[in-house]
Amino acid sequence: MKSINLLTNILFVLLPFSFSFGQSVTIPIETENVAIVLKTDGNNRLKIVYFGKSLSNINEYEQTGEVFNFRSEGASSNNNAYAVAGIDNNFTEPAIAVVHVDGNNSLDLLYESHSTSKTSDGATLTVVTLKDPVYPFFVDLYYKAWQDKDVIEQWSVIRHTEKGNVVLGKYASANLYLYNKDYYLTSYNGSWAKEMQPVVTPLRQGMHTIESRLGTRENLLTSPNFMLSLDGEATETSGTVMIGQIAWNGNFSLQFETDVYGNLHIVAGINPYQSAYHLKPNTPFETPRFIYTISFEGKGRGSRNLQDWLRDHTLLDGRGNRLTLLNNWEATYFDFDQDKLVSLFSGAEELGVDMFLLDDGWFANKYPRNNDKAGLGDWEVNRSKLPDGIPYLVREAEKAGVKFGIWIEPEMVNPKSELYENHPDWVIRQEKRPEIYFRNQLVLDLTNPEVQDFVFDVVDKLFTENPSLAFVKWDCNAPIFNGHSKYLERKKVPQSHIYVEYTRGLDNVLQRLRNKYPTVPMMLCSGGGGRTDYSLLQYFTEFWLSDNTDPLERVFMQWNYSYYYPAITMCNHVTDWSSNKSLKFRIDVASMGKLGFDIRVNEMTKRDMRFSQQAIRNYNDFKDVIWHGEMYRLASPYENDIASLMYINNEKTEGVIFNYLTNWRYLAEPSLRSVKLQGLDAKRSYRLTELNLYDGQRSSVDSTKKYSGEFLMNVGFNPNVNSSRSSVVIKIEAI
Ligand code: DGJ
Repeated sequence: MKSINLLTNILFVLLPFSFSFGQSVTIPIETENVAIVLKTDGNNRLKIVYFGKSLSNINEYEQTGEVFNFRSEGASSNNNAYAVAGIDNNFTEPAIAVVHVDGNNSLDLLYESHSTSKTSDGATLTVVTLKDPVYPFFVDLYYKAWQDKDVIEQWSVIRHTEKGNVVLGKYASANLYLYNKDYYLTSYNGSWAKEMQPVVTPLRQGMHTIESRLGTRENLLTSPNFMLSLDGEATETSGTVMIGQIAWNGNFSLQFETDVYGNLHIVAGINPYQSAYHLKPNTPFETPRFIYTISFEGKGRGSRNLQDWLRDHTLLDGRGNRLTLLNNWEATYFDFDQDKLVSLFSGAEELGVDMFLLDDGWFANKYPRNNDKAGLGDWEVNRSKLPDGIPYLVREAEKAGVKFGIWIEPEMVNPKSELYENHPDWVIRQEKRPEIYFRNQLVLDLTNPEVQDFVFDVVDKLFTENPSLAFVKWDCNAPIFNGHSKYLERKKVPQSHIYVEYTRGLDNVLQRLRNKYPTVPMMLCSGGGGRTDYSLLQYFTEFWLSDNTDPLERVFMQWNYSYYYPAITMCNHVTDWSSNKSLKFRIDVASMGKLGFDIRVNEMTKRDMRFSQQAIRNYNDFKDVIWHGEMYRLASPYENDIASLMYINNEKTEGVIFNYLTNWRYLAEPSLRSVKLQGLDAKRSYRLTELNLYDGQRSSVDSTKKYSGEFLMNVGFNPNVNSSRSSVVIKIEAI
């Protein structure tokens, strides 16, 4: 598996990428277009002396530090490669803070050694070891550079050989120092059904922190994603921009500290909130990855780099296929039985999707799961709803010509459940305090290996009983309230480990599952889009962006997610959430990702059914381009009355352009707007044909015309979006 685990896949080939002039050591970390240069100072402390465009002559990196001259009081430490707490030469935000075994809380880190090697997965890995001159305490800084994608993964490994536990008060993954001057940070607020709402903050002075303390569902209230324009606000096609994420499915912290020089210090990692970690000797602590790309050609290039990197190097089956589906959540909620479900299978087949996905409500007997107040944790099929069990449903679905997938939420428990009755000590809660529920449920204690086994067994049993089970939707609705672990208490491990060990426990379960079931597609869902981090996407093929499936809201939401995730990861379902938009609008929007339906097929008119069937056939024709091609955002719904996005294959011969009306005000004049395409071959001729039309609907797009790529990219094309053509899908083909 493409695990992002310590020291896997490393070929120790030493590369000639460092210089040592006299006492000082210079370490350039390079991708095709980006360079970070580390250099030791006269005291052997490691500094970041350059962060910018790569240079063609690597010998010149030696001189980069000369450009920056820190003379002010204390400022010489601002550009430390990994800022420490507790010695008097650092006044910036620390990346690390420790209390040694003897109670001393100072730390100094000096350069010890470094190596650069090629990894077997094609990246360049630089590891720099820093050591405290007084204590046997070490930090290894890791920089994994992906040349062609301009993506850098940064993390640290903290270790020591003191005679007892060292308490880590803070233990960041990455520390950076940027010498640009005009920073605009895009971060994302959220809540249920409002995930990924962008906010742009100019960074001028002091600290700006983005963080989560939810324990799980890291993307719910604040996203671990960020976009940072470095020299004034970047556009889609111009400007310098850093786009990235802290890949940790737990409490995270991203700190942006602007100093007196207008330089920017970034500290990213696990949130130290309530999380002092007591580190044993000879037990390296590996921090999560801080992953980012730098683009000097605007946000579009940056996001394509990141999308490509994710598909190639992290996402499970990133270059593979996905299943279209019919889900029953919004169509039935908890109100179904065996016959009703079986009757829906033929609808899935008639529609033309690949799979039927059974959602919540299929389990628990003593406290049946007929609503969200009971049954969670009791993963026995509900015998009165489904007397013949899941195997019968799988068989019937397959008879009807579709595969079968199932919903689970195995990390959680309703207090009204047999699981809670039998294992109260498996639940995260404070015994002495009233329980606090989120969606009437609590979180299981995944720090406990027995609970990890339980979660593993829930999934394993489903696959063992149903070998042809085709898909799992893995939900997670509650954050951690009242964080206390009975298991850690029994083991005499400090409770401040709970957040870290929960996340590691989940990772452990998922690794075990993927070792046994390496390929079955799984959707990462979290009461909407609460979980979207890259660390979990190594186990999942796709994720659920939000329970909000209003297609107009989705245009904005998918736009925001697209900076970080390729369309192949995005599960978009056509629902009746907002039936004031046409079925066509809903299907068109959902087609920009992994298409699914969650509607009552039996209530569709014949005309709508015919339209949907044709739209799914069209989707099947172009899905390869959506999933594996390059994506361009052409017109932003935040700046225009329309949104326009295109996907084109790598050969630049086939693509699809999606255009939507996003402003229904009378004053809006979207039909006048022409859209300039991107990513085409200027010299080729292209034909444009409108897709997804209803029977008898005429298109205003003349598919007999030819346009050069040059014309389409410079003059543009008017998709003629207006209130009677509120969504327009256009196929583009080279001729
Ligand atoms: C929350 C998810 O986001 C929904 O899609 C659905 O699966 C429900 N949970 C089921 O309880």
